[in-house]
Amino acid sequence: MESQRRSPDNRKDLLSLGIQRISWAESRMPVLRRIREIWGAKKPLTGLRIGACLHVTTETAALMLTLKEGGASVALCASNPLSTQDDVACALNEELGVPTFARRGEPEDEYFANIARVAETRPHIIMDDGGDLTAFVHTQAPPAVLGNILGGTEETTTGVIRLRAMARESRLSFPVIAVNDAKTKSMFDNRYGTGQSSLDGIIRATNKLLAGACVVVAGYGWCGKGVAQRARGLGARVIVTEADPIRALEAVMDGFEVLTMKKAAPVGEIFVTVTGNINVITKEHFPLLKDGAILANAGHFDVEVDVRSLDETALSKRQVRPNVTEYVFPWGKRAYLVAEGRLVNLGAAEGHPAEVMDMSFANQALSVEYLVKERPAKPGVYPVPEEIDRQVARLKLESMGYETEELTDEQRRYLQSWKL
Ligand code: ADE
Repeated sequence: MESQRRSPDNRKDLLSLGIQRISWAESRMPVLRRIREIWGAKKPLTGLRIGACLHVTTETAALMLTLKEGGASVALCASNPLSTQDDVACALNEELGVPTFARRGEPEDEYFANIARVAETRPHIIMDDGGDLTAFVHTQAPPAVLGNILGGTEETTTGVIRLRAMARESRLSFPVIAVNDAKTKSMFDNRYGTGQSSLDGIIRATNKLLAGACVVVAGYGWCGKGVAQRARGLGARVIVTEADPIRALEAVMDGFEVLTMKKAAPVGEIFVTVTGNINVITKEHFPLLKDGAILANAGHFDVEVDVRSLDETALSKRQVRPNVTEYVFPWGKRAYLVAEGRLVNLGAAEGHPAEVMDMSFANQALSVEYLVKERPAKPGVYPVPEEIDRQVARLKLESMGYETEELTDEQRRYLQSWKL
């Protein structure tokens, strides 16, 4: 699949593009810069090896450099075969001192070989996005690798779900902080980040006008809410499909039409799956689709649009634009799949903007510091401590020039009286 980002062929140009773009992202991540400043003096991560499996983007580069500034040595691989920005990997490898094992479009065996290379660095802390590195160190790495890990962090909803399943079945060997669940992560990154960047990916890939189009959003968690809100903001008519009755009700009261996928399939022009579950758009829906329907996935894994059935059902398949595959069905209609059904925001665009990754990655950085300082011993899934969450919100507001109210002593006493 041809890259949407026209990476220069010349290594020197790739490197300078990576350096330039990383510096652009860093300039939009004031909270992370503040942490870096403090860590530069204190070096709280001295001697620590961190193995990270994250999307290799400019924002991730800013996080890696922050961890290095704190005294850690870091190795990085990709958390999705299609999300690596090759200029960033090049800059990290060749100039910024972060060994990075990732290549955009790497096949599955290379993807897992790269995870193995990060595990081979025998990290003390692992930082994961989606749970592949965590699963790998538990099942495929030599026992000494697992034995060396004192804790981990997890960036995304799907990863946290996998971790909780492991913990329930006593298969998790170390404490992991669910960064995803911090308020300053999920309410902002999942909602505003996914909302904007998923539509960005669809627009970059297809150049489709959203005003007046019918957009079907499958799933109404934080990510689905973001996509639905932003699509409405661009003038689309938005339909939501949802299995959870409370979320479906929320979508109704937020003013969206709520339908089953079977009923939405014949009316939608653009479909975005964000459920975290499998087989959301399947072969039972293909015959119902309008000619030219656009199918995109914004969930972590490429399991929401049944791509295998698309391949089996279609008479032919060809790439018609970068990141867009046309499928022609036996009944004559066509569907367009964006970014192979993988994360559309990272496959066809640049992922979430730096301003929102600033908060997610500040939570990551401070959670690593917490693990090192507090050393929770028991394996399990831990929340981001509330003080960290609130600190990230405070620093973000401050960087944006906003002030919050200070409670008076009288107000504090009043609140306290209810807590007794
Ligand atoms: N996940 C979503 N957007 C991202 C980005 N820009 N960098 C790293 N991980 C991401």
